[in-house]
Amino acid sequence: MKKFVFIVTAIMLCLTFALAACGKTGGNGGNRGNDGSGETAATETLTFSQNEERTGYIVTGDTGQTANIVIPAEYEGKPVVAIADSAFAYSKHKPDIVSVTIPDSVTEIGKNAFYARIDDLINVNIGTDSKLKTIGNNAFSGCRALTSVYIPEGVEKIGDSAFNNCGSLNTITVAAGNAHYSGAGNCLIDIETNTLIRGCNKSVIPGTVQKIGVAAFRRATMTTLTIPKSVTSIEKYAISDSAITKIVYYGASGEWDTLIKSSSKYWNMGNENVEIVCADAQTSNILVAYFSATGNTEKVAGYIAQATRGTLYEIVPQVPYTQEDLNYNDSTTRATEEQRDPNARPAISGSVENMKDYDVIFLGYPIWHSQAPKIIYTFLESYNFSGKTIIPFCTSASSPMGGSASNLHKLTNGAVWQAGMRFSATVQQSNVFTWLNGLEY
Ligand SMILES: Cc1cc2nc3c(=O)[nH]c(=O)nc-3n(C[C@H](O)[C@H](O)[C@H](O)COP(=O)(O)O)c2cc1C
Repeated sequence: MKKFVFIVTAIMLCLTFALAACGKTGGNGGNRGNDGSGETAATETLTFSQNEERTGYIVTGDTGQTANIVIPAEYEGKPVVAIADSAFAYSKHKPDIVSVTIPDSVTEIGKNAFYARIDDLINVNIGTDSKLKTIGNNAFSGCRALTSVYIPEGVEKIGDSAFNNCGSLNTITVAAGNAHYSGAGNCLIDIETNTLIRGCNKSVIPGTVQKIGVAAFRRATMTTLTIPKSVTSIEKYAISDSAITKIVYYGASGEWDTLIKSSSKYWNMGNENVEIVCADAQTSNILVAYFSATGNTEKVAGYIAQATRGTLYEIVPQVPYTQEDLNYNDSTTRATEEQRDPNARPAISGSVENMKDYDVIFLGYPIWHSQAPKIIYTFLESYNFSGKTIIPFCTSASSPMGGSASNLHKLTNGAVWQAGMRFSATVQQSNVFTWLNGLEY
């Protein structure tokens, strides 16, 4: 990063107003600023230098002992546009930094800017209106306490090892409109190369990722990592120094061997004893059972099965529904009549083999007249669900899940029901993955 010649010590009580002008920044325990209140005063002991063009200022460090650093949006009447290389690196700034609030005006975070803040830096607050474009090499490398990452829409370049060793990360969010990076499945993904640059403890690797990048899960604290079949290469240190003791690979063992031969031999350095369970050697205790008349619920069921490696089971009506049957504006059509009749139990074609082998059942259905279709009632009355966990999900045009799931719950008293989720008919895979990430089962 280019710096201009002089450095001035910032002694300025007047900077509070500048933060107020900077838009939606400000910590809330997470890393995505959202209140825009400007209540947090800028840190007074920051140091600045002018950029080469003399159009703005670069933060170069802090002469104080500040734990919660708030960078102002403006300094001496000009915008603060960058954080200098190594500005808050451990070697330069010894006292603990617990949080840093970066104003929307900053377009560049320099290399090593927060390098090796090993135990202290927990929150980096970046607003949704941030103009950030570049995150330099090693910018947050070694920030092992950092819990979340937010990449705004305009970020074009994330340097090598920017989040290396950030093992406490639990969420990774990328603004929806970012053209270069995606946060699908709580992973930081380079869209052009389909490379997972950085994962976190709640990552569900999407089935589009081809490469697991250098040190992507280094120092992660989760114990199991699931790798989809789309992955063809795993780079060095991918799981090094992590708590990962088991890898579940969606492909066959032969494919795993080929994958690993084509990849860095150091991918598991330090974790050489990791257990690999390939699809051909694995049985799943998860069933994804669904009924779908027009394909919307089926799509969501597919995402869930992909992420959980559950077994898909379609609840197929013995007598298929015609388009006319589904006309919900007509009170005499089959679906409408079934929904009105408390005793209707449309017959199902086929059955689940070995229901006893499944402990967790994702149960999917479309909302029909604010309830689950009666064929779901037939399904639930056909098996013993005692002791199993049932996680309902539904799709609808606009209705919420409402009482549909609690009415189903009454049919399976011995089962443990989770709250479940309603999705719109056009839901994206990443939204489904985000929901799955938050579940415990
Ligand atoms: C008979 C019938 C009744 C429906 N009732 C509702 C409703 O009460 N509220 C709603 O938001 N959508 C309703 N819908 C729309 C569906 O819930 C929605 O299109 C759903 O995503 C369809 O899922 P599928 O493609 O898996 O069948 C109804 C659709 C049908 C066919």
